[in-house]
Amino acid sequence: MTDLRTNQDLDAARLRKAFGIFPTGVVAVAAEVDGELIGLAASSFTSVSLDPPLVSVSIANGSKTWPDLRRAGHLGVTVLADHQGTVCRQLAGPVEQRFDGVPIKASDEGAVTLDEGLAHFDCTVYREVEAGDHIIVLLELHGVDHPETGSPLIFHRSGFGKLVAV
Ligand SMILES: Cc1cc2nc3c(=O)[nH]c(=O)nc-3n(C[C@H](O)[C@H](O)[C@H](O)COP(=O)(O)O)c2cc1C
Repeated sequence: MTDLRTNQDLDAARLRKAFGIFPTGVVAVAAEVDGELIGLAASSFTSVSLDPPLVSVSIANGSKTWPDLRRAGHLGVTVLADHQGTVCRQLAGPVEQRFDGVPIKASDEGAVTLDEGLAHFDCTVYREVEAGDHIIVLLELHGVDHPETGSPLIFHRSGFGKLVAV
């Protein structure tokens, strides 16, 4: 039986737990800005539109990285593979260590992608939409590259998992 009442006290911890029931993949959003590699992990990636080709990520208003990342000419988005849980935590950790030991490619326009990822997107910022304590960043795609095989990293209930065929 469900017990869905209205006017509940929807505090952040409760919402985070509820949102975490919905499984997602995880992407790395990254760029080279002023000669520095910058980026973060995001599970809020969503495909949005085919024409024009758009995807979105939601970035917390308090992000220290986003103000620099948004200045990049182009941004790279990499869909993480199922063996990249540690890389994902690293990309959410101390800024100066986020790319340590992570094989990457940087395009001439500054988009940074992770070699071991499952899919790579070359993007520019299309629009930023204020949405509560996050900004919905719409990204326009200029290039896509992906191998035909491989499994994604899954983020679910605050932990990582893999897809299992049923
Ligand atoms: C699995 C996972 C998913 C995340 N998803 C998001 C996200 O969708 N949006 C976001 O702003 N931060 C997300 N983060 C947190 C960022 O990766 C990063 O830690 C945070 O932005 C703080 O770093 P910053 O101040 O350099 O931005 C996620 C972290 C992890 C580990």
